[in-house]
Amino acid sequence: MKKYYIETYGCQMNVSDSELVSAILTNAGYSPADTIDEADILLFNTCSVRDHAEQRVLGRISNELHRKQKNKDFKIVLLGCMAQRIGKRLINENLGIDYAIGVDQYRDLPNILADDGGFSLEFNPSEVYDNLMPLHQGNYCAYVTIMRGCNNFCSYCIVPYVRGRERSRPYDDILKDIREAVTNGMHDITLLGQNVNSYKFKDQDFPALLKNIEHDVEGIYRLHFVTSHPKDLSEELISTMANSKIICRHIHLPLQSGDDDILKRMNRSYIYSQYLSRVQALRNAMPGIAITTDLIAGFPGETEQQFEATLAAMREIEFDYAFCFKYSQRDGTTAARYNDQIPEEIRLNRLQKMIDLQREITLKKYRSFIGKEVEIYVEDFSKKSKSKLSGKTRDFKIAVLSGSESQLGSIVRSKVVDATAGTLICD
Ligand code: SAH
Ligand code: SF4
Ligand code: F3S
Repeated sequence: MKKYYIETYGCQMNVSDSELVSAILTNAGYSPADTIDEADILLFNTCSVRDHAEQRVLGRISNELHRKQKNKDFKIVLLGCMAQRIGKRLINENLGIDYAIGVDQYRDLPNILADDGGFSLEFNPSEVYDNLMPLHQGNYCAYVTIMRGCNNFCSYCIVPYVRGRERSRPYDDILKDIREAVTNGMHDITLLGQNVNSYKFKDQDFPALLKNIEHDVEGIYRLHFVTSHPKDLSEELISTMANSKIICRHIHLPLQSGDDDILKRMNRSYIYSQYLSRVQALRNAMPGIAITTDLIAGFPGETEQQFEATLAAMREIEFDYAFCFKYSQRDGTTAARYNDQIPEEIRLNRLQKMIDLQREITLKKYRSFIGKEVEIYVEDFSKKSKSKLSGKTRDFKIAVLSGSESQLGSIVRSKVVDATAGTLICD
């Protein structure tokens, strides 16, 4: 029996897709390898969002080519967004990649693997992988995809070009997937989509989906979702969150920039004051809710003053955490054609300023928890020491605590005794 091993890059959607691919391969008679060394088929599930993400995978592939000398049946498969974007070209360049499979063609994998090599990259706008239950890899937490693709076309972003148009997974499949995960001990569920707020299946929208999940499935301790687009964050969603016993007190709400002209050129469909009013509405409905964000430094044409507006927004809102990115020019996107690209050195410099500022804010936020009691869903042993456990609070902060193996997969209360800019240390 042939063994496969998947390396996953990029966002949680890819983590979830790798679980889908695992289900497809095991259903077809392949078995998972415990380590890369045992694998006959090595799959790379890739990301194209920034150039750096693509370069990393190319480096990894060249490091694994030596396996082909030892095992002449050893095959390398490219999956995901980079396969979609440039898979055909990479195969033609003879880099050692045998197959490239696009994001809508995973069902076809067993067929294609029967050939000696090749690609399957067509979009299939109706593919939602219905009637297929992914093979969840986590022990205590599960990622559950609820929609695929994106229609927003933010001007910097490659995702709509590599993931295709938005479409929602059938409600019954989502429910079945969550039920099975919970039965297997995964009480922490994260719903995934590029823009979960535009979930629409038959007459069910996203708030309805959340309410139905809470009503219909027993045993969920924590329900998260990513990512929300600020333009689609409705009052209905805010009140659904506020009234829920299981939805986390956290939202990931990418701001991208604090300057209105840049937001316009990014095609984000909101201005800063509208974003701020969403934040206020969330905080009014749920005092203490954690808000995290994504920010881009050095978007084409960004002046020093416009960059300062982003720093000012960070100070005003005080995000619990911000994922800060240096703008990366992606071929085919609108912003890549702007002729006022910012030099690398300035982009780097701005990125560093953002990171430094956020670190200060995060540390202050985390330290404000010292002395308080928090509820932690325990997910694992701590990476640093087997005698400690790690988990997350309801507002999605990583916490380490003392405890025993029997607490894995349960909620415990613990007092915060110290904090870093990323971890609550509990007793
Ligand atoms: N659908 C999600 C995730 C998109 S990718 C969303 O809308 O938030 C995650 C983040 O990567 C984006 O929020 C953005 O901040 C960043 N990103 C996307 N394209 C980028 C680019 N070309 N350069 C730098 N950062 C980028
Ligand atoms: Fe990209 Fe914008 Fe879609 Fe997010 S919403 S995936 S940033 S195009
Ligand atoms: Fe990357 Fe594709 Fe996700 S480009 S961020 S893996 S949707």
